[in-house]
Amino acid sequence: MKAYPASVHSLKGKHVLVTGGAGFIGSNLTEALLSIGASVTVLDNYATGLKANIDRLSNYDGFRFIEADICQPTQYRAILKEVDVISHQAALGSVPRSIEFPLNTHEVNATGFLTILHEAKEAGVKRFVYASSSSVYGDSLASPKSEGDEGNALSPYAVTKQLNEHYAAVYHRLHQMETIGLRYFNVFGPHQNPEGVYAAAIPRFLDKMLNGGEIIVNGDGEQTRDFTFVQNAVLANLLSLSTDHIDAFGKVYNVACGRSLTLNEVIAALENGLIKIGKTVSHQLTYGPNRVGDIRDSLASTELIEKNIGYQALYTFEEGVQAYLNQAFND
Ligand SMILES: NC(=O)c1ccc[n+]([C@@H]2O[C@H](COP(=O)([O-])OP(=O)(O)OC[C@H]3O[C@@H](n4cnc5c(N)ncnc54)[C@H](O)[C@@H]3O)[C@@H](O)[C@H]2O)c1
Repeated sequence: MKAYPASVHSLKGKHVLVTGGAGFIGSNLTEALLSIGASVTVLDNYATGLKANIDRLSNYDGFRFIEADICQPTQYRAILKEVDVISHQAALGSVPRSIEFPLNTHEVNATGFLTILHEAKEAGVKRFVYASSSSVYGDSLASPKSEGDEGNALSPYAVTKQLNEHYAAVYHRLHQMETIGLRYFNVFGPHQNPEGVYAAAIPRFLDKMLNGGEIIVNGDGEQTRDFTFVQNAVLANLLSLSTDHIDAFGKVYNVACGRSLTLNEVIAALENGLIKIGKTVSHQLTYGPNRVGDIRDSLASTELIEKNIGYQALYTFEEGVQAYLNQAFND
């Protein structure tokens, strides 16, 4: 793993609450925080997170887990009085899930968000970093997309993330909370769950490549995304949790690599990566219909987060794929 910038080491000795820490991004972030000497309490209800992620982290000193639902403040109110800063990652991901179960997604992602934001304010926790999403750009045709280019939302999931951004901005204005929203663009990496109908593309593809089976690509595979290795998202969180730059607060930032890749290019890169480390690749590739709620192209400008928070992507896409496969196969 590459080293984080020296400034994030100011988190050493701090008590950080990571919601959604049994999940993909949250567990990678928790591990990074523990490795730089922070104490971390993970709050998760295992809705989509994995116990294996908690077991893996429980070997670290300074790690604590509370099984709780962000929508149920009595389950975690006491712990908020003890924490210095919060990274809120808990949510129900997946655009298709939100189209099928909009009320469920709204309850967790919107009501749950406001619940924990308000509880944090009541407990006197000022710094509240949270996961937003590139989905807030909706049908915007801008490319690359900069903060301010938001279009119409294309799914209930996107609406919940837009709401998060509005509520965070209001709590910043009303209560001077140090909110920072991170709009992740297609994050991938170790501990991303390949299972289930709502699984993200890259772990699903890798699973099929290694175990045989059908990879179904929605559309012609020429849609583009700014695929972002998880350590870049971790870095954005560490910088946001530790920054003392006054202009950073009350805002939202793109978190990405700044490079556009088609799904077909990603599939080829994964195949080559696996073959390079001696794996046999066996799968069938099928092209299906476009998915409702999906955007055609998505590329981020990272200018604002570079300026206000000092972010520079740690890993290119290729470096991310290599690090992912090396870690997955214990190289
Ligand atoms: N992975 C991506 O590419 C991506 C892109 C954009 C935004 N995001 C956002 O980043 C965050 C983390 O995503 P991820 O990919 O790690 O997802 P994930 O599903 O792996 O992790 C989410 C975690 O939140 C927990 N959770 C869900 N509902 C909860 C509740 N009511 N109370 C407590 N915990 C709850 C789940 O159990 C899970 O551990 C989410 O907010 C997601 O919307 C992710």
